[in-house]
Amino acid sequence: MGKIKVLVFGASSSIHSINKQLAVFAGSLLDKCEVTVIDLNDFEMPIFSVDKEESIGIPEKAHNFKEAVKSHNGLIISMAEHNGAYSAAFKNIFDWVSRMDGTVWENKPILLLATSEGKRGGASVLQIAANRFPFNGGKIINTFSLPSFYTNFEPSKGIIEAEKLQELKNLVADFENQL
Ligand SMILES: Cc1cc2nc3c(=O)[nH]c(=O)nc-3n(C[C@H](O)[C@H](O)[C@H](O)COP(=O)(O)O)c2cc1C
Repeated sequence: MGKIKVLVFGASSSIHSINKQLAVFAGSLLDKCEVTVIDLNDFEMPIFSVDKEESIGIPEKAHNFKEAVKSHNGLIISMAEHNGAYSAAFKNIFDWVSRMDGTVWENKPILLLATSEGKRGGASVLQIAANRFPFNGGKIINTFSLPSFYTNFEPSKGIIEAEKLQELKNLVADFENQL
């Protein structure tokens, strides 16, 4: 039997994305899964519109994204919050892929995270995604928000506060059990 594979990404196109850092850290807490980290910059496409769709069809990068989802057993996604909602980079991919067959997430289990510089830790976009993804074939296992990233996270160590770290460890273990 092959290894259980988990797809990990930050829903942002920032080179130093704090959400990518959090998602990768959560992936490192998996006990026995193989992790693939993707970068949304590799899936940059024209801004979705129905007219573009008619003139150019579904871009190859949307197919690539869908293939990445299909070829993994579950996903860890950390949502960047821009003006209370999805980053444009993520929303564009989401829109294109949703035009393929509706089930963007292929009924895979998802551990959904968010972080931001602020005290709410991306709580708004986390809620939006947690409410929406089930309609696109996403099975949300758990959600987790890390507030004030720059005081609560160190690149070399991860989450600093013991209680918050334990909370994420428990959620990752729970997610892994459901893959
Ligand atoms: C256009 C823009 C809008 C933002 N809006 C919010 C917001 O609504 N809530 C929030 O907590 N942070 C907001 N921020 C700050 C982001 O949380 C911060 O840039 C964070 O680093 C984004 O995640 P990323 O590093 O993974 O891209 C915003 C940043 C930008 C550039």
